[in-house]
Amino acid sequence: MIVTAPADRIEPREPKYYLVKRHLLELIESLEPGALVPTERELTVELATSRTTVRQALGELVGEGRLVRRQGSGTYVAEPKMTWPLQMTSFTEQAAANGFVASAQLLSSERVRATGDAAARLRLPPGAYVYRIERLRLADETPMAVETSHLSVARFPGLVKAVRRASSLYRGLSESYGVKPVTAEETIETRAAPPREAALLGTDTGAPMLVLGRHSFEADGTPVEWVRSWYRGDRYTFVARLTTTA
Ligand code: GLP
Repeated sequence: MIVTAPADRIEPREPKYYLVKRHLLELIESLEPGALVPTERELTVELATSRTTVRQALGELVGEGRLVRRQGSGTYVAEPKMTWPLQMTSFTEQAAANGFVASAQLLSSERVRATGDAAARLRLPPGAYVYRIERLRLADETPMAVETSHLSVARFPGLVKAVRRASSLYRGLSESYGVKPVTAEETIETRAAPPREAALLGTDTGAPMLVLGRHSFEADGTPVEWVRSWYRGDRYTFVARLTTTA
């Protein structure tokens, strides 16, 4: 059954800042990436509106990755976002497929007792130890993601060294333990950037982020890892290829 709502309910009144945003979107379409856009003050005069209204429109466009602000310099049309396929590959492999050299900075690594959620996901008894490995992932020196991985200590003794040696978690798992994650459930959620992730990824606290969660498994269904990766929402478009199952 199709229910038709009255028109006034489908078309809410457009907030004032949205008119400014639409004006700016048109302007962005007409310019090349890297072009300077008028200042807040110029737009306030040109559009005969308040500074707060202009600021709100500019702020949204920055958050969406259409504009970039450079401290003390101005606001510019952003470069197009990078597309990043969602595949059962490692960050290292995916970066190479996109023509980048991947690297990682180890931010922290510790053995902690698994929380209820992590224990359940990794099918471990409550309170079992897991490695909590936090890395900053870079592609050609550009910080792309902050990634926190949880894996069983009992299953992967000496994992931190193995990851360091291989410069890749997946390569380390394969070389040192003969383990290969082949399927995964991947989730994507939006979050506001916490101060630490914002600083590591060169953005502002509160900026829109995309948080990917990967729960991966070996061919026989044994869970391997539970990972959370924070990406800047203004920089990436994730692409998943969908096919019918029939
Ligand atoms: C991606 C996945 C993670 C995985 C990582 C391994 O970033 N989202 O779940 O742990 O790749 O990457 P690498 O082998 O390069 O360390």
